[in-house]
Amino acid sequence: MSEQRSVAANRPTVHFDPTNASLIENPHRVFAEFRQRSPVVWNEAGFWIATGYDTVRSVIIDKRNFGQGDFIRNIQLYYGDGFDVFAHSAYRWLSEVFVYQDPPRHTRIRGLVSQALTVRRVREMRPDIEAITHGLLDRVADQGSMELIHDFAYRLPTLVMCNMLGIGADEADEALLTRLNQAIADAFLVLEMRPLTTAELELANRQTDFLESFFGEIFERRRKQPRDDLATALLHARDGDSQLTEREMITVAIALFGAGFETTAHMIGNGVLVLRQNPQEWQTLVATPELAARATEEILRYESSLIATYRTAFNDIEVGGQTIQAGERVLAVLAAANRDPGMFPQPDTFTIEREGAHHLAFGGGIHFCVGAELARLEGEIALRALATRMPALEVVESTPQWRPGFMFRGLSELRVRW
Ligand code: HEM
Repeated sequence: MSEQRSVAANRPTVHFDPTNASLIENPHRVFAEFRQRSPVVWNEAGFWIATGYDTVRSVIIDKRNFGQGDFIRNIQLYYGDGFDVFAHSAYRWLSEVFVYQDPPRHTRIRGLVSQALTVRRVREMRPDIEAITHGLLDRVADQGSMELIHDFAYRLPTLVMCNMLGIGADEADEALLTRLNQAIADAFLVLEMRPLTTAELELANRQTDFLESFFGEIFERRRKQPRDDLATALLHARDGDSQLTEREMITVAIALFGAGFETTAHMIGNGVLVLRQNPQEWQTLVATPELAARATEEILRYESSLIATYRTAFNDIEVGGQTIQAGERVLAVLAAANRDPGMFPQPDTFTIEREGAHHLAFGGGIHFCVGAELARLEGEIALRALATRMPALEVVESTPQWRPGFMFRGLSELRVRW
């Protein structure tokens, strides 16, 4: 015990409160201070925080020494040992999502999902994504203004994912889509690094039940009447004798729908905000819309919409000059790695023609984002459409409102006019 205490005493230690308003307002300032202390610091809540590029990268790519660890223990850290994790459908669902699993379970499901989400399938979606994007802009073009987050940024990935899963207006009308978006947002509260209130947890459970029954019915229909869509492809995805079970398919469908929704929407919202805060960059994009793909990469680096991810150390291991002990958790802050001056010259400058190192916004190693190709395509198409159709677009708000919650970096609202 005293040995443990002296180990902890020698660690560079910071105070970290994920609910603090100034952190939500500007996480980059806080993480830059941590990084100046050390690329990985300990905090009073009992986990490490990695902010240096090399450190973050070495944690997320090292599958021998780091992984997801014991799910129940990870959740009980917030609620106490007596908390019955699997009595809550939102946590039970989360435990079954492959991003929270280690090999070999992760390998099997990821392999099957990748078969259904190939680069070819994504590239073939370009015309559909363009049609969805322009359809959304057609609806507002004559208005001269919109609330970009709800009218456009949330709608685009939702409709793209519906299109991909083959869910048409016959299966989900506007009202149902809004309900699905809300259900994802409520159920995904379990991703926040804190104990939820009883009301939040009950809501997350109810919404998980709703999502499971919605996707359960979709698969039931595809089994009877196969179509050329991702839902049918998931039904048929095979790895030798192994096939996704009914439950696994439902879990995967919710994960794909949800993972691609907040992250992609906020990439678009953050992108429009920073482009308009940097008028010269917006003008460059308007003059050369072919830069939309590069602008998307810089947005992902500069204002990463998924701030961080966790790993648990399997062994004692030295990282960033500190010894992480087996069983300890590390918060790998991707957004901070993407602003490391050792890797990106002038990291706090937003420039769409930036060259050099790759950002870590999609993670790395065995959990590297399976939707990266799709997200990049959506970003490119959305920015290109906005820059060509609304070159005079400007942001109305003087102080943009960041959404609550630390894990996703995005705006609650963004009023724009053109
Ligand atoms: C800008 C948009 C996106 C960002 C910033 C993003 C970010 C990430 C990151 C950082 C990870 C790794 C998490 C970890 O290592 O713990 C990840 C994994 C994942 N992403 Fe994305 N993502 C985006 C879009 C999408 C889309 C569109 C989809 C669905 C089509 C998707 C599905 C997934 C899934 C299923 C995983 C888990 C992969 C695994 O564990 O093997 N993401 N994403």
